[in-house]
Amino acid sequence: MLPHDACIAELISFIRTSPTAFHAAAASAALLAGQGFVRLDEQECWGRLPAGKYYVLRNESSLIGFTWQDTAAAFSIIGAHTDSPGLRLKPNALRREQGCLQLGVEIYGGALLRPWFDRELSLAGRVAWQDKDGGLRSALLDFQRPVGIMPSLAIHLNREANKQQEINGQTEMVPLVGLAGDTAIDFQQILRAQLCHQQPEATPVGIIDHELFFYDAAPPALAGLHQEFLVSARLDNLVSCFAATQALRTADSIDNCLIILNDHEEVGSVSAAGAKGPFLRDVLERLLPEAENRQAVLRKSFFISADNAHAVHPNYTAKHDPQHLPQLGRGPVIKFNANQRYATTAASGARFRQLCAQAKVPAQDFVSRSDLACGSTIGPLTAAGIGVDTVDIGIPSLAMHSIRETAACIDCWHLCRVLTRFFQHG
Ligand code: CO
Repeated sequence: MLPHDACIAELISFIRTSPTAFHAAAASAALLAGQGFVRLDEQECWGRLPAGKYYVLRNESSLIGFTWQDTAAAFSIIGAHTDSPGLRLKPNALRREQGCLQLGVEIYGGALLRPWFDRELSLAGRVAWQDKDGGLRSALLDFQRPVGIMPSLAIHLNREANKQQEINGQTEMVPLVGLAGDTAIDFQQILRAQLCHQQPEATPVGIIDHELFFYDAAPPALAGLHQEFLVSARLDNLVSCFAATQALRTADSIDNCLIILNDHEEVGSVSAAGAKGPFLRDVLERLLPEAENRQAVLRKSFFISADNAHAVHPNYTAKHDPQHLPQLGRGPVIKFNANQRYATTAASGARFRQLCAQAKVPAQDFVSRSDLACGSTIGPLTAAGIGVDTVDIGIPSLAMHSIRETAACIDCWHLCRVLTRFFQHG
């Protein structure tokens, strides 16, 4: 297990290389491959897999990695999600308005919109391109520099700006990406040039389609008088993706250890790669083709669903139940909800608490105020999908779904330690 400072440095590097779900899946895959995990292809038959370490990608944005004992051993499973709320380019995004070039976007997930204004934005995601033989290929792009900005309206033109105001996604969330000038601009050509810059060996005839997202060009930062805080975009849920990947890299359990990092959690998880889709079930059915055996194995397995929780905000303490005030720096949060928005049970909560004690990590409890709607995550979906005992947990954080979220470094380290412990023998 990495010491605190090295762990946070690696986490920051993971976040920087993961501006989109595609990049997060690729970053996790690279860490696993570097540790000797072998990539499996879903388009091939796997047959009976020998004991070993494997990973598989779906849609280039979801990943399952696992150690396989080739026995009916239980599965120790950690789940997290690779996607974060943001702004995704529309298919024909480029437009000219009052001398400026702009890119039209759709809002992906429940983004907190106000913080997106007046920040340098970069662009990343996936493009589908055609090679000179007519073949369709796919590549991940990342401009890695500011290319857009969404200036807010000056206070002089809107004296009400500091009172609560609705934001119109169609008319107000349109980043500027340049001066229009008088010559025609072909956005596909700009993407093609970026692809050639990133992959000199690629020979794209043209870019056919894209799934590109704006993201905060500012790198993650440490803040606080003693650098206690980690401030960054996408802490929800890249901290959990990173911790799960680190745990699997060092797994030495006699159980089968598996991580699943799903895309599309922020938009309801209904997709081929999402937690409501068949990805995990498909992989488990290949590993354990005999139905009754598979069911027996799953009933003795355990799933930790890791997704960030709401720490109590010192300026808004009334938003929490007074008996349940998870604080920054005091360890992972166990999430409860009577209406099964979280899958934690007395048994699974107790098991996670015991794990925390073994790892010498503190734990806290969260339940929503009874007069506030409760969020949800992949835990209940996976529990309902494969019938596995599940606990929902996550690091406490502030400003969830902002372009800049805040967490305590020590909590990120606590999460890494308890998840690593989960995949260790004895
Ligand atoms: Co989340």
